[in-house]
Amino acid sequence: MPVTPTLALLQRPRRLRRTAAIRALVEETRVTADDLVAPLFVVDGKAAPEEIASMPGAFRLSIADLVKECRALHRLGVRAVALFPKLEKSLKTPRGAEAINPETLILRAIRAVKKAVPELLVVADIALDPYTTHGHDGVLTADGDDVDNDTTVAALAEMAVLHAEAGTDLVAPSDMMDGRVGAIRRALDAGGHTGTAILAYAAKFNSAYYGPFREAVGSAQAAGTTLLGKHTYQLNPANRREALKDALLDEAEGADLLMVKPAGAYLDVISDLRAATRLPVAAYQVSGEYSQIQAAARLGWLDLRRTRDESLLAIKRAGADLILTYFAKAVATDLAD
Ligand code: PBG
Repeated sequence: MPVTPTLALLQRPRRLRRTAAIRALVEETRVTADDLVAPLFVVDGKAAPEEIASMPGAFRLSIADLVKECRALHRLGVRAVALFPKLEKSLKTPRGAEAINPETLILRAIRAVKKAVPELLVVADIALDPYTTHGHDGVLTADGDDVDNDTTVAALAEMAVLHAEAGTDLVAPSDMMDGRVGAIRRALDAGGHTGTAILAYAAKFNSAYYGPFREAVGSAQAAGTTLLGKHTYQLNPANRREALKDALLDEAEGADLLMVKPAGAYLDVISDLRAATRLPVAAYQVSGEYSQIQAAARLGWLDLRRTRDESLLAIKRAGADLILTYFAKAVATDLAD
């Protein structure tokens, strides 16, 4: 005898969730190793990897260990790394001149990685914050109370050319100065680097989620002040339209990819940008996003793997084509199993 259902429903959405097979068949979004970029921190010297206190599972690496890590990531199917230098304090100056020293740490690191694993793409951050004593992304104005836009842009363009010469595949200006993408494109082209792409930190917000990163690279402390405010150049987290405006300017200036940063708290911006541009959209799941998941997992309050995977899925679902994440290696390892 057929059982008469209680509810006469034409649509029963649960039909598509009944089995693992049908769930897989209708799955809309999947994160793969191809989508991931691994940010890595490099230090000078031969010291063993040093774990970053506020970023469990992330390390500052010597160039030799960085090369090893890049080989491992490449074997796992990760296509790209984003490199960040942590400099000795003694190399920092108010104007950050070390950024354009042809033998500076990051350039030596890029050359070593490209020599050892040529197919692995190298993304290099273009900004002065690892090099300045005050930790700002640029050169300060004469009265010292703001970052000078045009002087900074000139330094960034020079820095981008040096990074391209060292073998960088994608230069990533993360400073949020006006006009820097255009200036960098012109400088790269004039230097013959027409193949070097620009991954613009197009919508970068003035976010508290960068805290652990600033500990990692030692840019946290402005000289004589406490916490660094980047309000005059990074976007106000309240502003969705302005983010789009700024990002589309980067496209008009010649950016090849547009990035939203942070990611998890700005899914609306990722989604807006996906609809507004035909360029690939990148998203940076930043240090604070990583650390809060790690911290809750350590307390036993969240499941690390499931929360991690869900956070990345959400970023991809919102419209990101690629994701910079400190979870890259762990995710690629689990996917390879
Ligand atoms: C600096 C830069 C920052 C990050 C990437 N590049 C920090 C900042 O703007 O102060 C943050 C990355 C992270 O938090 O993981 N130009």
